[in-house]
Order: sequence, then C-alpha cells, then structure tokens
Amino acid sequence: MNYIFNFSRTMINWFHFHGRKNLPWQKKPNVYKTWISEIMLQQTQVQVVIPYFKKFIKKFPNIKILSKNSLDAILFIWSGLGFYNRAKNIYLTSQIIKKKYQNKIPLNYPDLIKLPGIGKSTAGAILSLTFNYHFPILDGNIKRILTRFYKIKENNYQLEKKLWKKINKLLPIHHSKKFNQSMMDLGKLICKKKPICNKCPLRKKCLYLTSVKTQKKKINKNNKNNKIKKCFFLLIKYKNFIYLQKQKNNIWKNLYYFPLFFQKKKLINFIKEKYTYEKKNKIRQFVHHFNSYSFLIQTKIIHIKKKENKRKGEIWFNLLHPQKIGIPSPVIKILKKIKI
Ligand code: ADE
Repeated sequence: MNYIFNFSRTMINWFHFHGRKNLPWQKKPNVYKTWISEIMLQQTQVQVVIPYFKKFIKKFPNIKILSKNSLDAILFIWSGLGFYNRAKNIYLTSQIIKKKYQNKIPLNYPDLIKLPGIGKSTAGAILSLTFNYHFPILDGNIKRILTRFYKIKENNYQLEKKLWKKINKLLPIHHSKKFNQSMMDLGKLICKKKPICNKCPLRKKCLYLTSVKTQKKKINKNNKNNKIKKCFFLLIKYKNFIYLQKQKNNIWKNLYYFPLFFQKKKLINFIKEKYTYEKKNKIRQFVHHFNSYSFLIQTKIIHIKKKENKRKGEIWFNLLHPQKIGIPSPVIKILKKIKI
C-alpha cells in the first residue's frame, strides 16, 4: 500500500497509544485548572508540579476564591516550587480578572495574552487544552522536536518566527487538543535531549535522524578503510648525521625520509646484509594517521662507523645544522628524538 506521511495524523495516532491522559489537570479540565497548571509547568517538570498543583487547587479551587487571596497566601502554597515570579503573575492576573472581567477568565486569545505570565504559547495551551480551540503550543519540548525534524539550525536568528510558522501549519483543524498534548508528550518522553529515535513515530521523515544515520554510515565507512598498517623506518646514523632518501612517488613524494619497510623480515635481512653494527632501538613506536588509514611506525636504529657515499636523491641529514629540505611530520618527530 502506498503510504503518505502525515505529521499531525501520525502524532494523534501515537497519542492514542502512548500519550499522557491522566495528569491531574486533565481530569475534568476547566480553564482555571489549565491556566494554573500551565503556569506551574513553565520551567518545571510534570512530576514536580503534580503535588503543588493538587495543593493549590485544594486551597484555591476557583478564580473567585483565588482572587480574594493575597500574594503571600499564594506564595505560601508555592513555596519550594521555585521561579516565584510565576506566583506573582498568578496573583496579578487574578486581580485583573476580578476587576476587569468580573472573576471570569477571558476565553479569547487577544485578552489572554495581555495577562501577566501568559504568552502566546500559554494562551494557546489554555484555549486548546481546555476547549480544543484551534491554537498551537510552542514550548521548549515542541521547539526541540521541530528543530530536529526539519533540521533547523538552532542559532538561526529567525528561529522563533520559523517555528511558529511551522507549528501553525502542522496544527490540524480538528483535534488541536490531542495534537498539542501529543507534541508535548513526545518531547517529554521520546524526543528528549538524548532522544529515543527508534521509538519515535516521526522517525521515517525526521531529518535529524537521517543525518545521524548518514554520519554513522560515514564513520563506519571510514573505520573500515581506516586500517592500521605496520611499517618500519631504518635509521642509519653516523655521528650527527642521519641517512635520508628523497621519495619519488606516494603521498610523501619529493620529501625526504628514512628507508621504509613494510615487513620486519625484509628490514632485518637488509640490515644483516649491509651492516654489522646494531644498537637497541630507543624510539617508541607510534601511530601516524592519514585520512583513510594509519601507520603504526616502528624504528630501528643502526650506528655506522664510516659514512657511505651518497647517491642522487640521498642526503646525510645534519642533526646539528639541518638542511632546508621537505620532511614529513612523523620523520620530523623521530629526528627530534634522536640523541646525538
Ligand atoms: N508542559 C506544559 N504543559 C503541559 C501539559 N499540559 N502536559 C504535560 N506537560 C506540559
């Protein structure tokens, strides 16, 4: 069957199975309870909010009772929840509602966003979660989902505007409440700071996940190619001179380095044939990385008593007065370690 991805439908389906439906403010919801819960949930986790919410509603069951109380009385219940300016905003709002709206919370967006502590997202939450009105929510969790899903750069200076545009487009005409709750739940349960992408209903179309997969593939590919090759440098030393050869090909073409062997056996045979004197090597092996492979470099040093005549492309490198020639970095590293 041909399957066309629909973001909102996918989210609402997911919500039916996995969404949170039994939070205290979701039972017999009303605008007052939604307002209080949404203010408490700004900057605070659900599990922390629950006991405070219950206590608050028990003490101030409706706006009429709340608006008769002082800021101190509200702060008393709020103690321990933190971000106390939120309690002050609740107090100020309750007084405005008493004086301006005869103790009835306004049920329209333009009036709500004028009240202290109620911004665009909270106003949307109050109206959609209570009445299923067609307003989006854009809290931190939802922002994270959208920036990942669309792979929007986080430091984009027009980010906020972009995200509001996106969420307005995604919000379905029907089921705004379920959609909004599903987004908050997905952000809280799945699309967390450390996301659980394999459980995410949006995974098939999420650009964040696509890029993570591509990165992993690249890393795996690099790892496959990134074989470690063993190699051996032969250091032929005479007093303060070291024998170097100019390379005719490979990545170090035209640079000077020590005779190079890829098999220890070949190196040993070479030494035996040509030289009689060998000293223990004191330079530790090390790894030199290239883009797609690495060299594990080991060195053997031999000290000779008589300098051989050099041929074309060969030099006796003077450790005390170095010649100005091109030398690859692992060779420089070794040269620095040679004791004269
Ligand atoms: N965070 C903000 N509002 C919320 C809500 N209604 N449910 C769960 N988490 C929230």
